[in-house]
Amino acid sequence: MIGQPVNRIDGPLKVSGRATYAYEQWNAGQPLYGYIVGATIGRGRVTTIDTGRAERAPGVHRIFTYREAPKQAKPDLKDQNIYGRAFPVLASADVNYFGEPVALAVADTFEGARAAAMLVDVSYETTNGHFDFDADADRAVRPEYVNAGVSTDSEVGNFDEGFAQAPIKFDQTYTTSYMFSLPLEPQNALASWDGDMLTVYVSTQILGEARRSIAGTFGLEPNQVRIVSPFTGGGFGSKLSVHAETMLAVLAARELGQPVKIAATRQQVFQLVGNRPTSLQRVRLGASADGRIVAFGHETVVKMSTGNDYVEQSAATGRALYAAPHRRTTHRVIPLDLPRSEDVRAPGESTGLMALESAMDELAHELNIDPVELRIMNDVIKDPERGVPYGQRRLVECLREGARRFGWDQRPKKPASVRDGRRLVGYGMAASIRTQFQETTSVRARLLGDGTAIVQTDMPEIGTGTYTILAQVASQELGVPIDRVRVELGDSDFPRSAGSGGSWGASNSCTALYRACRKLREQVLAEVGEKERADSGSEKVGSHGFSGRVVLSPVGTEKRPSSDLSALVAKHYPEGVEAIGSIVGMDKDPNFKNYSLFSFGAQFAEVRVDIDTGEIRMHRMLGVFDAGRIFNPKTARSQLIGGMAWGVSMALHEEGVVETRVGSFINHDFAQYLLPVHADIPALEAVFLDAFDDKANELGAKGVGELAMCGSGAAVANAVFNATGVRVRKFPITIEKLLADLPPQE
Ligand code: MOS
Repeated sequence: MIGQPVNRIDGPLKVSGRATYAYEQWNAGQPLYGYIVGATIGRGRVTTIDTGRAERAPGVHRIFTYREAPKQAKPDLKDQNIYGRAFPVLASADVNYFGEPVALAVADTFEGARAAAMLVDVSYETTNGHFDFDADADRAVRPEYVNAGVSTDSEVGNFDEGFAQAPIKFDQTYTTSYMFSLPLEPQNALASWDGDMLTVYVSTQILGEARRSIAGTFGLEPNQVRIVSPFTGGGFGSKLSVHAETMLAVLAARELGQPVKIAATRQQVFQLVGNRPTSLQRVRLGASADGRIVAFGHETVVKMSTGNDYVEQSAATGRALYAAPHRRTTHRVIPLDLPRSEDVRAPGESTGLMALESAMDELAHELNIDPVELRIMNDVIKDPERGVPYGQRRLVECLREGARRFGWDQRPKKPASVRDGRRLVGYGMAASIRTQFQETTSVRARLLGDGTAIVQTDMPEIGTGTYTILAQVASQELGVPIDRVRVELGDSDFPRSAGSGGSWGASNSCTALYRACRKLREQVLAEVGEKERADSGSEKVGSHGFSGRVVLSPVGTEKRPSSDLSALVAKHYPEGVEAIGSIVGMDKDPNFKNYSLFSFGAQFAEVRVDIDTGEIRMHRMLGVFDAGRIFNPKTARSQLIGGMAWGVSMALHEEGVVETRVGSFINHDFAQYLLPVHADIPALEAVFLDAFDDKANELGAKGVGELAMCGSGAAVANAVFNATGVRVRKFPITIEKLLADLPPQE
């Protein structure tokens, strides 16, 4: 059952509109609607707010401003568990970034609230802010913390000396743009109070952290807050924490004594939710003439927001990727008065590999070495910075298998040398690597007397297939047909999980469930063993394989009749029986100390570039991945091709543009913030190696969600170079950056 391409068990609910998302919940009764009024300056303070006209608008219940907002806790920046920090709203007259909520209009209808919001008159006093990353380069400082607990800097050997003495010195700088997680379902929440008890239906990736954040902000005990989120319409990092819409709904619902729901509009998502910081990345590779890297340097500078300490870990990317005795990686930040930086899918590697894997391509070109071979030549057995072995690292197999399947030997050996009509043909490739995470997670497995199994955890389904893979594990481990497994997710009353993010969701929750099933089985055998032995005259009762069958060995015979675990449960536990399985966080798991745990891949892209217009068209793309055991190739493939498509847009499309006079993102909607559409993406092929990483967990599984986004962008960028001979280092590669340097063509 595990590893089968089972259709999504929640598919029918989703396609028929019966999967209930936060904004669609009606259990709480008739809600009021809130609409956020955002600041129209980037930094300063509110001097006056006139709410009179808005209050007189039809159907309005209240206009909230900082004058009425209750006292709330401030975020504790020492708390490195960042997603559960307090998130105060309307806390003062200060404006820290463009779009920050300065008022909330609450009315009977969404339209009424929106109309009233437009009538709130706000005047501001502006102070000079810093909004321009490029202009503020000299303000870069060393951050104390970097995301995901990675160290700010790393130094192995003597980089300066190693680089100085290397026969080949490669030194280039790349930039990546501001980017956004833009899930189909924008951030939203419905808050409902019953006395001192609060229920929040909210679009989130981690219910436990949403609960901690809400309780902490409003000074509540965690058990006063229930979070419900059975379906979340995508997250990509942007729902690891909850934001202003959720806190405002809680605040307004309490003050008004009625449920209140608030959704960020698409445009507000660009302001109220965090962005991927723009980055400046210097890559230095000191190598021998035959391509062996002796000095590896990756130094990044990213934007950080004043008041929020998130630093994307882009320079950590190469710490475990290639060999080199002398190494240096550093993170620096430029604090700006912009909306906060946050996790956007595959934080760290996705941006880091844009630079690093472009640099590898440049080095290969310079040395006239096949880019695939250059990577194989610099493969490692042990983690080059930590000195520990990998759990499982099959990067070389990914590279070779990918090259074979893609027909890499057909690539144009010389850039700009092959044409298909009026289009230049280019092949590119890049390696993929992504950190494996493990966080404390618990899952309950319950077997009922009627032969059904129930699985419960607070992990939400964010579109990845969580209902389905958990059902597969329970079905296999409890010996129950999959249609008799009921998976219940997304309620903080269920055992707490680490949620769904950072590609840890599937391996964490499935491992915890696997343990729950094993525990349940052992518990049943221990408790009913004696009884069954007496009844059947058997001398041994044991668990048998993965089938959920229980073996009874009769006294004095070799015959081993068996009976179903569910039959035993039906007989001895008419009320059902349950067990909870748990895993500990990676900081407490010795395998994460003794091994280097990553998933790997290799990606290949073919592009066509119009010789007259510079228009880049994707032609085909292939990724070969080593992510341990795959629970369900169908749902995993969906995630991988999504990641590959996102890499295409990272290379060619996405770019948040700052209006540097006021600190706003100008292109803050789907019309202006370019995303690929179907016509931009060719057929994508994702292939898994048959892998099993027994150091990651007993199911051998690692994360897949973010892996395909790591390296895919560089593969595309390298293909553009191969097609045109033009190297663009300021991403995305847009036509105007390419056009001037396109080689003259007949
Ligand atoms: Mo992840 S940054 O939760 O896609």
